[in-house]
Amino acid sequence: GLDIGKVLKETGYVTYDPGFMNTSSCASAITYIDGDAGILRYRGYPIDQLAQQSSFLEVSYLLIYGELPTRAQLDAFSEQISIHTLLHEDMRRFFDGFRHDAHPMPVLSSAVSALSTFYQDSLDPFDPQQVEISTIRLLAKAPTIASYAYKRSIGQPYIYPDNTLGYVENFLRMTFGVPSVEHPVDPVVAKALDMLFILHADHEQNCSTSTVRMVGSSHANLYASVSAGIHALSGPLHGGANEAVLEMLAGIQAAGGDVASFVNRVKNKEQGVKLMGFGHRVYKNYDPRAAIVKKAARDVLERMDKPDPLLDLAMELEEIALADDFFVSRKLYPNVDFYTGLIYKAMGFPTKMFTVLFALGRLPGWIAQWREMIEDPSSKINRPRQVYTGATERDFVHIADR
Ligand code: ACO
Repeated sequence: GLDIGKVLKETGYVTYDPGFMNTSSCASAITYIDGDAGILRYRGYPIDQLAQQSSFLEVSYLLIYGELPTRAQLDAFSEQISIHTLLHEDMRRFFDGFRHDAHPMPVLSSAVSALSTFYQDSLDPFDPQQVEISTIRLLAKAPTIASYAYKRSIGQPYIYPDNTLGYVENFLRMTFGVPSVEHPVDPVVAKALDMLFILHADHEQNCSTSTVRMVGSSHANLYASVSAGIHALSGPLHGGANEAVLEMLAGIQAAGGDVASFVNRVKNKEQGVKLMGFGHRVYKNYDPRAAIVKKAARDVLERMDKPDPLLDLAMELEEIALADDFFVSRKLYPNVDFYTGLIYKAMGFPTKMFTVLFALGRLPGWIAQWREMIEDPSSKINRPRQVYTGATERDFVHIADR
């Protein structure tokens, strides 16, 4: 019952916590993390059980509505999503305006933002039916948008969704081409991507989710809030890390594969040299998602018969880092994205698409968190305070006298 914000305001104090190292921005019943023990649960369910036994749409339902669906509920939810996968034809033309070599992340964010211009019937955060339809539209259209962004970047025609296919299969088909009897959507690839989406589906108040809540706290609509979250995700310290890891591994390989000397550069804190895919604000132990992805990387590459020397390099890097006091003393372990890029690469995705895949996975989490905030009667506009360090009062000097 103690309202810390109110107490501090009344006493004239503010907390100063750069980077929000120890500030809770909200109360939430969606995702639980114990960073010291390496535990992650969605709505109470352990991440490894969900990764092994559930599906991405089932997990999306769980995150958004709070409980696992019955078969009938899941079927209805999946059907709703599949009938909204098409983009408005004008929206399709929207993509032609981007430079052909535009990075697909800002294209995704711009197109999601543009949904609020195409679907003006679903912008009211306090109309439950409008929130529901914008939820469905976002989940349904994001894979179509992502694949169009990719097609645009390689100069190929857009492929319309095929609603007889599952969520991930449809996305793979739109991205890589129309499957045939000889080249069906590979079930190994579809299953692995579905599992990776589950692992990314929510992670409580990370940078992008906090952004979605921040924007939504002004009662901006769901499309606008999620679009902002996609931009927040794009940075290399957050979702962009999966892309940065692969670039790092390729760089080490190109320089002769000397892992030890790269680790030394990291330890010497050379400007801009970090062990990408390592470290986490909350996990001070092995990220439970990283453990699952590491195993999946080995399995998937093997089953697809696509051995990759970068995987050996990554494992060597991990082994050296985990035996080195620099990393051990700072509790730096692989995070979810240390191994994901290797799987995406084996599936045929170019590096530029990696963070887009993260965004597709994180979408249900953003939506669930935004809805939880909107439905919470105690939520307020997010408006942090500051500690002012600028000049004290001084008189204006005319430009001629400066
Ligand atoms: N490589 C080398 N050193 C590191 C790394 C790293 N990846 N991460 C942290 N450190 C060091 C810091 O230099 C610092 O050392 P110091 O105490 O000597 O100054 C110490 O470890 C603590 O690091 P901070 O930067 O203070 O930790 P913070 O919680 O602010 O940052 C972050 C967490 C951003 C994830 C950081 O570990 C990082 O930059 N990692 C690499 C990028 C990455 O993989 N991001 C993905 C995060 S997970 C996700 O979004 C999916």
